[in-house]
Amino acid sequence: MTKQVDVVVAGAGGFIGGHLAADLLSQGLTVRCVDIKPPHEWHQLHGEAENVVADLSLVENARDAVRDAGRVYMLAADMGGMGFIENHKAACMMSVLISTHMLQAAQEAGVERYFYSSSACVYAAGKQTASNATALKEQDAYPAQPEDGYGWEKLFSERMCRHFEEDYGLACRVARYHNVYGPAGTWTGGREKAPAAVCRKIAEAAVSGDHRIDIWGDGRQTRSFMYIDDCVHGTQLLMNGTSSMPVNLGSRELVTINQLVDIVEDIAGIRCERKYQLDAPQGVRGRNSDNALIRELYGWEPSIPLAEGLEKTYAWVYDQVKLAGS
Ligand code: NAD
Ligand code: GDD
Repeated sequence: MTKQVDVVVAGAGGFIGGHLAADLLSQGLTVRCVDIKPPHEWHQLHGEAENVVADLSLVENARDAVRDAGRVYMLAADMGGMGFIENHKAACMMSVLISTHMLQAAQEAGVERYFYSSSACVYAAGKQTASNATALKEQDAYPAQPEDGYGWEKLFSERMCRHFEEDYGLACRVARYHNVYGPAGTWTGGREKAPAAVCRKIAEAAVSGDHRIDIWGDGRQTRSFMYIDDCVHGTQLLMNGTSSMPVNLGSRELVTINQLVDIVEDIAGIRCERKYQLDAPQGVRGRNSDNALIRELYGWEPSIPLAEGLEKTYAWVYDQVKLAGS
């Protein structure tokens, strides 16, 4: 039976959802975008889409959201960077209502495919204690010791996808995103992640002339950061693919936070005096993505260089800082 809506993007008012919806629309697909936020707060609002404001933690709203839809991308969650997830563990875990009801509604509606956005935060903390982190393979999620709160919800919900596929035949695809950044993301307000936060701090320094910035931690912790275009491409690759196993979707360009700051300073053309805040939220000491599985399955992995992605991100954040100050 032909579905009236090709694709539903849950959480389309957010960063990744906004970019993903734009790409799906550019392919001529019919897209239903759903988010709990009022439209003026959506990062991107696409006029060609059917835009719905709804709380997807309620099962009746989840049912309405997936009605007559072919495929569902489930990106809705109450989340943010370390500053948010370390201090809002209950709120992060309440996203289980969205994850569960969307999965249930998708199965009842007989959707063709269901994508779930999991996270590198599912990985066991004991495997991320050193800055020179060994890249995380998919099997490193077990024995389970994920990020408290947020990571437990993600691990539980990706496992629910597995059981809905095994028990009810719902075709599920799961990506474990590693820190995603880019223009039109969250850059202020407390939920921003390190790339956007560093761009904001350096843009504010450039605009104000006060070149002192705060860095959380000692700057020697490591991460890899994936540019949004790689994320949007990889998400669809996984959705269209054959494997229902959770797969890493992340860059393997590992940098210290100090190196991240160095790159943004180069882009901005200024040097800053860094004040290290050792009592700020820091999360794991080191995290990188092992991409053997995604290469084996799809012959592809995220590859946009950090400096290239940050150039575009900094330009966008700089404009936001200027607009906010005007
Ligand atoms: P985001 O916060 O920008 O987008 C999530 C959206 O979900 C928001 O617009 C929010 O309003 C919406 N939402 C929250 N509660 C809702 C509800 N009850 N009903 C409907 N919508 C609701 O986050 P993002 O960066 O775009 O991330 C998208 C997904 O990817 C999330 O599930 C996130 O956990 C996951 N993820 C993101 C990253 C990253 O680095 N951005 C890393 C790992 C995993
Ligand atoms: N957010 C933020 N803001 N982090 C900073 C800052 C700052 O101003 N300065 C330094 N950092 C450091 C943090 O202390 C942390 O050690 C590191 O930068 C990365 O922080 P985040 O980008 O906030 O988060 P994360 O990489 O630990 O986790 C993120 O990625 C996961 C997927 O890989 C989060 O967004 C999770 O929600 C996500 O699932």
